[in-house]
This record gives sequence, structure tokens and C-alpha cells, in this order.
Amino acid sequence: MEKQNDQTRMDKIVSLAKRRGFIFQSSEIYGGLNGFWDYGPLGVALKRNLKDCWWHDMVSGHDELATLAGAASPYEMTGLDCTIIMHPQVWKCSGHFDLFHDWMVDCRQSKRRYRYDHLNGRFASHRGKKVFVVSDQSGDDALPDTAAKAQKFFGLRAKQIDEIEWQGDLRSLASSIVSGEVTQAEALGPDASELGTLTEPREFNLMFETRIGALAGGDDDRAFLRPETAQGIFMNFKNVVDTSRVRVPFGIAQIGKSFRNEITPRNFTFRSREFEQMEIEFFCRPADSTAWYRFWRDRRWNWYLNLGLSPGKLQLREHAAAELSHYSVGTADIEYAFPFLVAGEFGELEGIAHRGDFDLRSHSEGKLVRHNGVLVVEQGPDGKPKYRGSGKDLSYFDDISRERYVPHVIEPSAGADRAVLAFLCDAYHEDEVPDEDGKARSRTVLKLHPRLAPIKAAILPLVKKDGMPEVAIDLYRKLKSQMACMYDEKGSIGRRYARQDEAGTPWCLTIDGQTLIDQTVTLRDRDSLAQSRLPLSECVEELRERLGGK
Ligand code: GAP
Repeated sequence: MEKQNDQTRMDKIVSLAKRRGFIFQSSEIYGGLNGFWDYGPLGVALKRNLKDCWWHDMVSGHDELATLAGAASPYEMTGLDCTIIMHPQVWKCSGHFDLFHDWMVDCRQSKRRYRYDHLNGRFASHRGKKVFVVSDQSGDDALPDTAAKAQKFFGLRAKQIDEIEWQGDLRSLASSIVSGEVTQAEALGPDASELGTLTEPREFNLMFETRIGALAGGDDDRAFLRPETAQGIFMNFKNVVDTSRVRVPFGIAQIGKSFRNEITPRNFTFRSREFEQMEIEFFCRPADSTAWYRFWRDRRWNWYLNLGLSPGKLQLREHAAAELSHYSVGTADIEYAFPFLVAGEFGELEGIAHRGDFDLRSHSEGKLVRHNGVLVVEQGPDGKPKYRGSGKDLSYFDDISRERYVPHVIEPSAGADRAVLAFLCDAYHEDEVPDEDGKARSRTVLKLHPRLAPIKAAILPLVKKDGMPEVAIDLYRKLKSQMACMYDEKGSIGRRYARQDEAGTPWCLTIDGQTLIDQTVTLRDRDSLAQSRLPLSECVEELRERLGGK
């Protein structure tokens, strides 16, 4: 059976995100900017809650005196906020300047550019003419795409499509060219009407370049927008050790914007050109590093589960040896089954990497490469270091054990936007609820974890009279000082519940006729739809407890 993604579900999520003000296309009134997204009123609250949860759970709420489950010892956590633009040498020694690129091919006819590894094709023949039809579509869309292109290229009508003879399955253009099976001249580009318009692949660095200063122009003014927040942490390792009382093992956390000039931004916010990362660099003794790697992998995995992501849609994938970066001792990805992926495929939410001492040593000695199994400073053609390090000693002296060493680094690196997208996709549900007259009504509901929900509670007077709004406004003011809540008196109560369900609000408090008699309100639970009565005077405490307990 053909594998299928759930594009219909994805389309509904994207439409809800727009309709309810979670996520908008950047610069939309000018036609939008591909790969850039804005967060609207509900979206900004959701994303902020997600980042706050991360910061609280990993940093500010971390108990530095306790030994957490799976940890070898207690450890300290601290934070940092670095600049987006850093010294250009940072990216040379980190490897991003040389290695952070994709292979691209251009089409001379359509002027479009494609990622080489995203191009697949198959041979089609008609009346003696044979072409390799190339598609840039992914998953299930690629086959029909090549069929439509071949039909157009051979000038056939829909009913003649069976006249085309196909040879072999869809396969990578790159490997078909390398194996000699296909020549550039036989390839029909994804948006071309003529053969042979695709260029040879060229490297394209993913870092956004900029210039520093008013008189910018020379090569010395060249700088880059950071493609990851991690390097800023390495830049400040020594500052943090020298100025705070942290001792190894400890972690430095940072949340911030990163920029990558992705060739093919796609799948809503999944691959954007501007996005936020939540990264930790955890510094430990080399001998303990494997145990700390396992600890962080499991801790980060549990974080997503505790915030309610469906276990059946999450996958923890250890990289095979061949997939590891040359400096990495181990890497695991936490992946989610996004609806835009075909069944069985997962997209990366976070990577947890054991980076050894690569980063600190590279920034000290110069960019490292692996040679005969060991990391050595890469030489330029003149025999000198290709990219010189800072020359600063980034080793650590343990004054209790009297040991000096370069700490090993475990890096849990998460994307805030991808996590928001995963939580949105996971929370999206359609079900049926009885309306005021008891008839079944379909509803769309975001079953977000209460810690993530943009609005925690809505205060709703049943009608706009009989003193109900006054009681409701009073309750709203008391609750607002404790948590994000809203007051809504517009429309029927059923419509107001529906609006809150779509926004992911876990609780509604309704002030009705009974409230005026016995000072109780109706508390409605978004997920179970259970309605219970609660004394007005206990509402704030009850919701605080429910929120704190989650
Ligand atoms: N410092 C390591 C690092 O940056 P990465 O796997 O390239 O590793 C970490 O990125 C995380 O950042 C990813 O797991 C993903 O969640 C997020 N991320 C990376 N590129 C992204 C993009 N173009 N759009 C949105 N999120 C992205």
C-alpha cells in the first residue's frame, strides 16, 4: 500500500494557526517572505510559555543540591544571553564556515535553485525519446509530479498518459549522475521545459552574511548572523567559570534566535530561515561524559512526555556511527511524527550530542579535524593552522581533585519553533460535544498542556445582565494577577466555549443564575467536558493548584 502523509490534517492546523492568531506568514501584506514566520497574540503566548517551561525546568527551577534520577551527582545550571553577531573567527573555528553548506543546483531556464539532495527522478520514454524527469517534491508527491511533467514535456493529453514508458523507480539525481546512469543533458529540471538546463552542483553556505560598520566593504567587515546559539556559550565558558562559583559538572543554557539561509524552507515553521533555539552546553569530566550523555538524552526525552506529547508519536533515535559528526562520540535525536511526513517518518525536534572536547579545544587551539582517529589542528596549504584559535586556555582546573582538563561537552539542542509546531499538531483534535440544546456539535479543540496553554481560564457571565458581568469581572481581576485569563461576554455560551476550545484554554468559569443565589460558579474542563460547581471564593486557589500540579 502507498504510504501517505496527513496533509489534510496539516492544512487544518495551518488554517487554525492563522485564523486564531497563532502564526502568520511574515510580511504577508507584501506577499509574504518564504521561511519567515510571525507569532500572533495566541502564538506568542504559547511560544513564551514553552520557553518559560524549558528555562524553568532546566535552569531556574533546577535543584542543584539533589541528585536527579539517572544523574551521577548533583550539578549546577546557569544561563546566558549572547549576541547574534560574533567575531567571524568563531564560525571558522566551529567549522560552520567550511562545513555548514548544502550542495545546490541552478536551473538556467527557470532561474530556480534546488537542493541537490532533494532532487529525485526517473526515466520516461515516448516514441523513441528518453528523458530523466526530475522532481523537487518530497514523499508521495514526487511520483505524480514526474508523471505530470513527462506528459507536458511529450505534449500528451491526459488520456495518453499510459503511452509513456517508465524505467525503474524514483531515485536520487545525485547518485544517478555519479554512477553514470544519467547525464546532465538527459535531465529535465523540475521547472524546465527543455533538457539539460540544470547546472553542476555548487556549495552554498547556509549562514546569513552581513557587514559591520558604516564604511563596510572590505573582507574584515564581513560577519554572520549566528546559525546556532551554542557557540556563544563556548565563547563565554571562561567568563562564566572565572566569574561565578560554578564547578564542573555544570551547564550553561541559552534561548535565542538563530538564522539559516535554508535553501528549501518548508512544512510551515518546521524549516524556517529565522528561528529560536533552546540550547544547553553541559561541561563534565571526560571520564563521566558517557553517563552524562545518557542522562541528558533521557531527561530531554521525558521533558516532552511530561508536557503531554503523545508517546506513540515520539521517537528517540540514536545515530549510527556513520551518521555522527567527526567529533561526536554519540548523538541521539528526539523526533516527532509530524502530519506532513509520510507514515513511519519522523522529524527532528531536538538533538542531544556528545561533542567531546572539540569545541573548547577548537576555540583555543584552532579548528580541529580528525586525523587517524585523533583530533588535530587543521593545517592550511602553508602548513600553519587553517583557522587560528583564540590562544586562550579553555581548560578547567578542579581544585579538589587537583586535576586540569578540557571538559567534555554534552549538548541538548532544541528548536523552540519546532517544539511549538509539534505541540500544536499533537494538541489538535476534532470531536463532538453536545450544544445547549443537547444536539451533537462538532468542535475543534487544542488539548494543550495547561502550562503551555496561552490562556489558562476564561471567565464567562452566562448573560450580560442581572449582575452577572459584575461578578465575572471581579473574579477576572482576582485571577488575572495570578495567571493569563480572559473575560468574554460576547455571543452564546456555546460559541464562547467553542472559541476557548480552539484557543486551547483548559478551563472556563461561568457565572450564572445559581452564582447569584449561592455564590458558586460552573467550572468546565476542556478535555473531559466535565462541569462542576465551585465556590466563587475558591476559584483562584483551585486553578492555581490545578496549574501548579500539572
Ligand atoms: N548546536 C547544534 C545545532 O544547532 P541542529 O540539529 O542544527 O543542532 C538544533 O539544530 C535544533 O534546532 C533542531 O533539532 C531543530 O529543532 C532546530 N532547527 C534547526 N534548524 C532549523 C530550522 N531551519 N527551522 C526551525 N528549527 C530549526
